Amino acid sequence: MNKIGCIILAAGEGTRMKSEIPKMLFTICGKTIIEHILDTVLRLNLDKIYFVVGHKKEQIIEKIKTCLPKTQQSKIIFVTQHKQLGSGDAVLQVKKFVDKKINSLLVLSGDVPLITKNTLLKFIAHHNKTNTESCVLTVEIKNPFSYGRIVRDSLGRFSAIVEEKDATENQRNIKEVNSGIYIFKLPSLWESLKKVKPENQKKEYYLTDVIKYCETKTTFLCENEIEVKGINTRADLSEVEDIVREKLLNNLMLNGVSVYMPKTVYIDYFTRISKETIVYPGSILTKSVIKENCVIGPYSVIENSSVGSNTKIIFSFVSNSKIGKNCNIGPYGRIRPGVNLFNDVSVGNFVELKNSIVKNKSKINHLSYIGDTEIGREVNIGAGVITCNYDGRQKHRTFIGDKSFIGSNANLVAPIKIGNNVVVAAGSTLSKDVKPFTLAIERSVEIHKNKSSTIKNMYGIR
Ligand code: UD1
Ligand code: CA
Repeated sequence: MNKIGCIILAAGEGTRMKSEIPKMLFTICGKTIIEHILDTVLRLNLDKIYFVVGHKKEQIIEKIKTCLPKTQQSKIIFVTQHKQLGSGDAVLQVKKFVDKKINSLLVLSGDVPLITKNTLLKFIAHHNKTNTESCVLTVEIKNPFSYGRIVRDSLGRFSAIVEEKDATENQRNIKEVNSGIYIFKLPSLWESLKKVKPENQKKEYYLTDVIKYCETKTTFLCENEIEVKGINTRADLSEVEDIVREKLLNNLMLNGVSVYMPKTVYIDYFTRISKETIVYPGSILTKSVIKENCVIGPYSVIENSSVGSNTKIIFSFVSNSKIGKNCNIGPYGRIRPGVNLFNDVSVGNFVELKNSIVKNKSKINHLSYIGDTEIGREVNIGAGVITCNYDGRQKHRTFIGDKSFIGSNANLVAPIKIGNNVVVAAGSTLSKDVKPFTLAIERSVEIHKNKSSTIKNMYGIR
């Protein structure tokens, strides 16, 4: 039985992404490329994982460390490839770290993130059976552009891999390609790597050239093209993300969530939605938990938030907040970070909330700004009410007691405390605390003057 270690190649510059961000840190439905591959590899339960890093390695190492369970950390060995001289050179860097007991190495490309545990197990089983010096996971695709082609002799025996740039016209027509996933036997891999020269268009040490020097070699065909899709450009990334997104949405639908026009809906890996919830078109849901029987969208964005059951969030934006049960938000609500809506709360159109608590059964239905505020239960906030929380230098808090009524267009100049059962007259600007059971009214005296002849003249009324 072979004892298998794993190499993950992640040192490349990812030039085709045209980005300052290392390719491995781009995300697919919220999860970095590197996490995708790591999650799969960890589930194989191999003894050692050699991570080859180079270009912007600090960022990659930090990411891996933060997402890796403590129990798995000792399995990972980071190996630095100082100069990006090619995938063959990257593998060679691992040589001095490899445990003596390991006699085969599974090599994965860090930029082929959708490979599944199942396929890798079949691939390993194939290797254990054939026991050849090298084994390449291949796939047949309609458009093989940019992949290394699997070249066979006249008897159909696997003889070499030829890269796109080095291929002849005939070789470019080959539809079977290299997935960038291999198993090599040791120590023969090291012997073959020594023979590899950078004699190709890119002047790199190609790992794929090892095949030529292996006396025994096999291929194993992966049935599912998607699993071995390599990410080299942002267009590749978006293609892969689309597939993952569709899969996540299908899973939701299988679990009793309705998604209308799913092609327009984006959800990430970290979002949970319970059954009987409906997601309407154009919604974007990330890092959130949404309970049962909710209506989300059309066109709602919910990020890093939790939403209780039976809540409706229509045409609205919710960020870093906690929304209770039976709430109504929108259309056109904006819930900024730090908001905690209790149950049965209503937040209507063009209402902005920030860093505020709103207790049960309170209503803020039209055109308000509520910031740094605590609103009690059964409060009614009239149209256009503003909490003036900022004095130009500091933010101040507003408290509004249970069952109070704040009339339309009132300004509450913080810091201010409005007691329970208070009535604030419409249009008042208050800057003093109001005791319970008080009517607070702040308005200038209203003057009515009879101007009938002037007005009639103005509008030509006889
Ligand atoms: C590679 C294969 C190609 C295969 C394709 C599948 C080679 C020469 N070619 O092409 O046959 O069809 O993958 O997706 O390997 N890397 C390093 N250090 C380096 C260079 C690369 O660690 O100096 C890593 C990269 O980070 C990447 C992997 O090796 O994870 C493959 O490199 P990349 O440049 O993406 O090769 P492809 O052109 O995609
Ligand atoms: Ca690649």
